[in-house]
Amino acid sequence: MTALTLDVALGVRSYPIHIGLDLLGDSARWRGALRGRHVLIVTNETVAPLYLARVQAGLAGFDHAALILPDGEEHKTLAHVGDVFDRLAALGATRDATIVALGGGVIGDLAGFAAACWMRGIDFVQIPTTLLAMVDSSVGGKTGVNLPAGKNLVGAFHQPRAVLADTATLSTLPVREYRAGLAEVVKYGAIGDATLFAWLEANADALVAREPAVVAEAIAASCRHKAGVVARDEHEHGERALLNFGHTFGHALETATGYGTLLHGEAVAIGMVLAARLSSSLRRAPTEDAQRLANLLAAFGLPTMRQPSDPQRLVELMRLDKKNLAGTLRLILWRGIGAAEIVAGVDERAILAVLENNGSAL
Ligand SMILES: NC(=O)c1ccc[n+]([C@@H]2O[C@H](COP(=O)([O-])OP(=O)(O)OC[C@H]3O[C@@H](n4cnc5c(N)ncnc54)[C@H](O)[C@@H]3O)[C@@H](O)[C@H]2O)c1
Repeated sequence: MTALTLDVALGVRSYPIHIGLDLLGDSARWRGALRGRHVLIVTNETVAPLYLARVQAGLAGFDHAALILPDGEEHKTLAHVGDVFDRLAALGATRDATIVALGGGVIGDLAGFAAACWMRGIDFVQIPTTLLAMVDSSVGGKTGVNLPAGKNLVGAFHQPRAVLADTATLSTLPVREYRAGLAEVVKYGAIGDATLFAWLEANADALVAREPAVVAEAIAASCRHKAGVVARDEHEHGERALLNFGHTFGHALETATGYGTLLHGEAVAIGMVLAARLSSSLRRAPTEDAQRLANLLAAFGLPTMRQPSDPQRLVELMRLDKKNLAGTLRLILWRGIGAAEIVAGVDERAILAVLENNGSAL
């Protein structure tokens, strides 16, 4: 299978996204993104035994080292960013050094943030190895880490020099993680691309079976969508916020159920269904479309409801969302398959009503 290359158009900071099978071994494709002599690969203890050697094999001629971090969201911390700095210093890394982030979104966010800070910003290359990272977190330049006070509270916009999505790496991804990534693919169809949504419905079985050509097509469609949004609204002054469809409900659910109970993509799946139901209860979206959305997510083996939960507490958690401004609840509501909108001042009684019915037939 040949690789596909897309562009994120950001003027002098534009970069390619390469998508295809066995790209790790095709170092000619990605070595061009490395400008200086020093390269630090940042990865974790799960991904390193699987893929690190293949990346290292492509780095002959560079002064390179690897930092292998423990696995897990709880390690997306400033302390580990400090470890990256220490390793860069030990390597003698100068301003033209490159960090290669090899792993899922946790590694990409952390390594990207370290790259944004080292000597006020050096290059980094994303090699995402989860579906979520391939379709979402590796593209767009949002980097950062968690604090005890909350998720992703410290970060920077810092675009990578290149993204290399080797779809062969998905073969080792646990099924739950793979499905969680599909939730974000559904999101792109739901908020901006009715054709993609229908294509996902038609190809659901092939996607669940991880058929390489179909998976690559889903990644490409997602990246095309995200790249377009990022090119038009890099710093999220408007349209980029639509990518948070389902996320305000989802983050509240993640917090309410305790981090680790629901994967992010699972929480987003439930969140999108809740946002869709809220939108149809406010007569902004057709009820049949909300049903189609729930059916597609269910076909991917994703949850579409969560019971029991305390609706009042969820609303309180939603008020803490970063997207809110000046105390008013700002939500991404739905207009039906292929369209979404940002709405401020949504009536909390309508949200409560939907949450109270969470678990009823959908
Ligand atoms: N920057 C952004 O725009 C953005 C967008 C969405 C999410 N995120 C962030 O991404 C993170 C979630 O990313 P994620 O879902 O990739 O989680 P993750 O990075 O924790 O990876 C999930 C699990 O899969 C393992 N893994 C990774 N690749 C593997 C492979 N090929 N084979 C086997 N196991 C593999 C990881 O070690 C981990 O255990 C969160 O921290 C979230 O905040 C960032």
